[in-house]
Amino acid sequence: MKKIFSIVSFLFLASAVFADDGSRLWLKYDLLPDGQQREAYTKMTQFVAANSSHPTIKVAVQELEMGLKGLLGKAPVLVQTATKSGGIILNVAPNSPSNLPQDGFELFSEKGNIVISSKSEAGVLYGAFELLRYLQTGKSLVNLSVKSSPKIKLRMLNHWDNANGTVERGYAGSSMWKWTELPFRIDPRYITYARANASLGINATSINNVNASSRFLTEEYLEKIKVVADVLRPYGIKVFISVNFRSPRTLGGLKTSDPLDPEVRKWWNEKTKEIHRYIPDFGGYLVKANSEGEPGPQDYGRTHADGANMLAEAMRPYSGIVIWRAFVYNADPNGDRFKEGYAQFKPLDGTFDPKVIVQVKNGPIDFMPREPFHPMFGAFPKTTLGMEFQITQEYLGQSTHLTYLAPMFKECLDTDTYVKGKGTTVAKIVDGSAENHSLSLMAGVANTGSDANWCGHPFNQSNWYAFGRLAWDYTLSSEQIAEEWTRMTLTQKPQSVQKITDIMLKSHPIYVSYTYPLGTSHMMGEGHHYGPEPWLTKAARPDWTSIYYHRADSIGLGFDRTGKVSNALQLYSPEVQQLWGSPEKCPLDYLLWFHHVPWTQKLSTGRSLWDELCHRYYDGVGQVRKLQSAWESVKADIDKETFEDVKGRLKIQEKEALWWRDACVLYFGEFSKLPIPKPLVPPTRTLDEVKKLTEIYHLR
Ligand code: GCU
Repeated sequence: MKKIFSIVSFLFLASAVFADDGSRLWLKYDLLPDGQQREAYTKMTQFVAANSSHPTIKVAVQELEMGLKGLLGKAPVLVQTATKSGGIILNVAPNSPSNLPQDGFELFSEKGNIVISSKSEAGVLYGAFELLRYLQTGKSLVNLSVKSSPKIKLRMLNHWDNANGTVERGYAGSSMWKWTELPFRIDPRYITYARANASLGINATSINNVNASSRFLTEEYLEKIKVVADVLRPYGIKVFISVNFRSPRTLGGLKTSDPLDPEVRKWWNEKTKEIHRYIPDFGGYLVKANSEGEPGPQDYGRTHADGANMLAEAMRPYSGIVIWRAFVYNADPNGDRFKEGYAQFKPLDGTFDPKVIVQVKNGPIDFMPREPFHPMFGAFPKTTLGMEFQITQEYLGQSTHLTYLAPMFKECLDTDTYVKGKGTTVAKIVDGSAENHSLSLMAGVANTGSDANWCGHPFNQSNWYAFGRLAWDYTLSSEQIAEEWTRMTLTQKPQSVQKITDIMLKSHPIYVSYTYPLGTSHMMGEGHHYGPEPWLTKAARPDWTSIYYHRADSIGLGFDRTGKVSNALQLYSPEVQQLWGSPEKCPLDYLLWFHHVPWTQKLSTGRSLWDELCHRYYDGVGQVRKLQSAWESVKADIDKETFEDVKGRLKIQEKEALWWRDACVLYFGEFSKLPIPKPLVPPTRTLDEVKKLTEIYHLR
C-alpha cells in the first residue's frame, strides 16, 4: 500500500514538475530533441564574445547563455574577444558604414564564427534573439547572411491596466503590474515580460489604461513606474504613461485644465520635468481625450491639436513624444460613427506638433472582428498616424475562442489605400514611407495578465507574438509567424506543426463566420461584450446598440454607407470607392459594412443574402468541430496540460459558436421571414430561449 502510495505521489510530482504552465511563453529553451542537430549547433556556439559591457549587451549574453544551455544542454563560454572559431561574436558598431538603421542587425558567418552586429546595443540584443529563434525553429546556422531592420520605429504595447489591479478588457486574470508591491518588490515576471518583448523587437510600453487615473502622475506612483522603467531599460523598452487630461485640476489643484491656460501649461511642464527626474529616457504620454466620457481639450472649447501640442511643448526639452488617440465619436443617433474620427481630426491635419503621433484604430468603429481599414489612413498627409491594433480579444472570443489574429492584422496593413497610386497600402502610411514622416508607430492593446500563462487561452500568446513580429516586419507571412510560434511554444514535430499552423490560419475566418459574417458588426452583449445580442435596441448611447449597426428590416440587412443614409464610403480614395461602392462588386467580407442588401438578393456565391448568411453561421459551427478533431490529432505531440487546456476551451468555443449562430439566424429570421435553407437543420431552441441565455449576463 505504502509502495503504491509513493509511486502515485511520484507520478503526481513528476507530472507537476514537467507540466507546462505556459509561463515561459515562446522562450522555452527546452532541450532540442534531435541529438545530431544539437551537436551541429553546439560546434558553432561554443563561446560568446562581447566587445561591450553595456547593460543591454549583458542581457544579450545572459539570454544566449540561458538559451543555448537549455536548447543544447551546454552553456557557451563567455569571453571578451574571440581567439578561435566556433563561437558567437556580439559586435556593437555605432560607426559602421552599413546602411542599417539603429535597431537593425546583421547576423552572418565570418571566419568560422557567427557575428551579430548592429549600430546599437538593442540591435545586438534583437540579433541574439533571432539567432536563438533559428535554433528553436530548427534552421541551419551554416553560411548565415541575415540583415534585418524594423519597418516601424515605435513598436509598442498599450496596457489597459488600472491602478487597482483590474484590466480593462483583460481576459487573463488581473494586472501583471503589482502597484502595491512596487517599488520595493520586483516581480520576476517583469523580466520575463521584458525578454518576451525584446525577442520580438517591441521597444515601448504604456503601462496603464487609456481611461487613465491621475494616480499614475503622483510622486508615489512615479517612484513605482521608475522601477519598472529601470527593469525594462536594458531590454530596450521605453515606458509611456497614459494621462488623464484633467490632472492639472485633480492633482494640481488648478481651477481648469484648459490647454491654453498658462498655469495649466506650466503645470504640465513641471510634471514632465519631474517625470524625467525619475525616468530620464521617458517615452512620453498616451492620451485618450474627449472619448467615451474621458476629459479633454474640447471641455474648454479647444481642439485635439491644442491639447496634444500643449503636451508636446512640455516634452520639447526631451526625447519623448505625445501619442494622441483618434478614437472619438459623438453619440448622434442620426450620424454615422464610422465618420466621426475622420470628421473631428481632418480639419486639424497639419496643425499637430512634430512630436505628436495620432494613433488610429485599424478600423473606423472599434476592433470589430473584421473592419475595413480606417479611412483616416491615407487622408492625413501632414500628420504622423500610428496604427492601433487590439491584441486582447475583446470582440474576438476573449479567452474562450481560438482566434489567431495575424491574418486580420495583415488584411488591414496590406489593403491598398491608393492615395498615392496603386500600392500605397495602409502599411506604407503607417511606416511613414508614403508621406515621408520620420516617426512611425504600431501599438497593440496588450493581452497580458496575472494568469500563469500570461494570456488566458494558450493560443492567445500567439497574438502577442504575431503583433510583435509584424510591428518589426509587416511583410512576414501569417503562416511563417504561426509556424515559428508553434515550434517555439508547442511542438517541433513537423506533422503537428503543420496541423497547428493550419488550425491557426483557419481560425479567424471561422470566428468571423459564426459571429459577424458578410460584414456585419457590433452585435455583442451589452457592456461586457461577451456573446451575441443582435436584438439590443436600447443602451446608454444609440451607437452602443446593435440595431444602429446591422439595420435589419423587412427588406434586408446592412448599413448603407454609399450616400443615401451615410456617405462614409466617400472618405476613401476613388479607387477604393469603386471596389466597395456597389453591392455587386463589393467583396462579400465587407458587403454589409457598406450596403443594405435585400434578403432575396443573389450574391456572387449563387445564394441569396439570407441563404448565404445562414450557411456562413452554420459553416462556422461545423468548422469549430473540425478544429476540435484537428487538435485531437496532435495530442501525442503536445504537453498534456496545454493539450487539455485547449481542448476544454474548444468545447466552450463550440457551445458559444452555437449560441452566436442560433441567436443571429433566429433573430434575423424575424425580419427576413424566410426559413432556414435546407439541408441546414433549424435550431432546436427558440429565439426567446436564446435571449434568456444573454439575460443572465445582465443579472446583478
Ligand atoms: C472600446 C472598449 C473600451 C475602451 C475603448 C478605447 O470601446 O470597449 O473598454 O476603453 O475601446 O479604446 O478607449
